[in-house]
Amino acid sequence: MDVLDAIKSRRSIAKMKDLPVPKELIEQVIEAGTWAPNRYLTEPWRFFVIQSNGRNELSKVMENIVIQSGIDLESEEGKRKLEKEKNKPFRAPVIIAVAAEVTENGKALRIEELGAVYAAIENMLLAAHGLGLAAYWKTGNACYNPLMKEFFHLKEKDEVLALINLGYADSEKNPPHKRPLQELIKWIE
Ligand SMILES: Cc1cc2nc3c(=O)[nH]c(=O)nc-3n(C[C@H](O)[C@H](O)[C@H](O)COP(=O)(O)O)c2cc1C
Repeated sequence: MDVLDAIKSRRSIAKMKDLPVPKELIEQVIEAGTWAPNRYLTEPWRFFVIQSNGRNELSKVMENIVIQSGIDLESEEGKRKLEKEKNKPFRAPVIIAVAAEVTENGKALRIEELGAVYAAIENMLLAAHGLGLAAYWKTGNACYNPLMKEFFHLKEKDEVLALINLGYADSEKNPPHKRPLQELIKWIE
């Protein structure tokens, strides 16, 4: 697939089939992430592949985050929120948590370490698309919660930047509206 075609035809796919994804494909997606630009070659990305029963562990973390939020779990709203968060890890056969392990060498800037990992995430979404897989970049408040970092044994300075849902598409999505380029570009010449 041509690169520009891949960029334009990639979509966030919500519904995925309950089918496992071969390990080789998962590794190809992750490897694509590692080819992203990164200043001082710090390679700040870390990947956590959560699948099959591992999703129960992530579900437990999601549950604890809701409980810790202090929401009234006796209320209808509280019950709904708890169920919704607990079920999120089961929306895809594979979830790849992508984290930035921020380098502390006095040179690498935090903003650039995060930027490199964001670039890696887009590489991964495009690779998944090129490999015939569906992917969806998810975050939500849970992603940035300290309990999530703890689950992955990350330090306070580190960040979980994506929970990529990965699988085989079971739904389609129309492309979103894009603002005309003229609104976004200023030519300075
Ligand atoms: C940093 C970041 C976080 C995102 N988090 C979520 C999320 O938590 N839930 C969600 O439904 N989509 C999330 N998305 C995906 C966007 O909603 C999606 O990319 C957008 O709707 C455009 O659709 P497309 O990816 O099909 O072009 C996130 C995207 C980015 C860049």
